Amino acid sequence: MFRTLYGKLAAVLMVVFITIGAMMILASQKMLETQRLLELATDLIIGTVAFSLLAALIVFRLLTIRLRILSESIDAFRAGGFSHPVQLMSSEPPLDEIDRLSAAFQEMSERIVTQLAQLSQVDQQRRELLANVSHDLRTPLASMQGYLEMLLIRSDALSAEERDRYLQVAAKHCERLGKLVQDLFDLTKLEAREVQPQIEAFPLAELAQDVVQKFALAAQKRELALIARCRADCPPVRADIGMIERVLENLIENAMRYTPAGGEICVDVAPAGERVELKVRDTGKGIGDDELQDVFNRYYRVDRGEFGNTGNAGLGLAISRRIVELHGGEIRVESELGRGTTFTVDLAPA
Ligand SMILES: Nc1ncnc2c1ncn2[C@@H]1O[C@H](COP(=O)(O)OP(=O)(O)OP(=O)(O)O)[C@@H](O)[C@H]1O
Ligand SMILES: [Mg+2]
Repeated sequence: MFRTLYGKLAAVLMVVFITIGAMMILASQKMLETQRLLELATDLIIGTVAFSLLAALIVFRLLTIRLRILSESIDAFRAGGFSHPVQLMSSEPPLDEIDRLSAAFQEMSERIVTQLAQLSQVDQQRRELLANVSHDLRTPLASMQGYLEMLLIRSDALSAEERDRYLQVAAKHCERLGKLVQDLFDLTKLEAREVQPQIEAFPLAELAQDVVQKFALAAQKRELALIARCRADCPPVRADIGMIERVLENLIENAMRYTPAGGEICVDVAPAGERVELKVRDTGKGIGDDELQDVFNRYYRVDRGEFGNTGNAGLGLAISRRIVELHGGEIRVESELGRGTTFTVDLAPA
């Protein structure tokens, strides 16, 4: 009964009426005893009115004091720019409607604060992304522009070889720009889940051998041993062949880029419990423990600070991780500085 404002009001009114009733009974007895009818009747009326007013005031104050606290908290929340959730004292479980209102408002304010914080984090990431994208686009664009302008302005003074070399450099920057734009476009689509893998069963070991073959010449030029080691009993996998080829290419490209001449890169495909595992191991420079999980973040490059713009955007592993996740798989990295790195991808068998 006392869990609603209505119940509380009814209880207070009951107390008031019982008290007034008792006063009237006492007064009537006195009236009969003393015959001071008029005087006593006046006292009774004044007393009843005064008591009723006092009771009404007390009830009104009791009801409004918590509403006032609530309204002041809402004003403070607004004045503070919605940055801190309000702290309201409400009983648990709630005793009446005001308690429920306070609890609901507190929860609402906490949610508003969390969502505003998330929005500002997303905004911050968007700014960083824009800054990184414009920086990475500007560099090859500026080089390309420089070489092309030189060709236009000094065309007559340049030898045929020089002209050829300038054109080749401009074309290389153009290609880099194209790859960067394409990677960004692909990553955005993967993150928005706008592309769905075309799942089919295929032998991962064969794909690994084909990709390794594709990189054989480049590896030879860099004096790297590139080997595919695939177990014969490996079952086929269920995946999008084009997407997995891209992951494999990204991992081999990285391994070749970060392994010095004389090193070894090994691509393993083998069953692992219920899954099929693909490993790309290298004997390269390795990645420090504190950077290990960050390498999958888009735009993360361990050497960004040390060597400035190396021409790589830092998107390859972010794209690879999204692809593997779309397949319900996992991509992991283990590394030791100076000794090498191993990336492991696990996929579902067919
Ligand atoms: N095998 C590896 N050995 C050492 N460091 C690696 C290896 N693979 C990746 N890294 C580190 O992780 C970073 C992120 O790799 P990721 O493939 O995402 O970008 P990237 O190769 O720099 O550029 P992109 O792939 O977009 O051309 C690299 O810049 C490099 O510092
Ligand atoms: Mg890469």
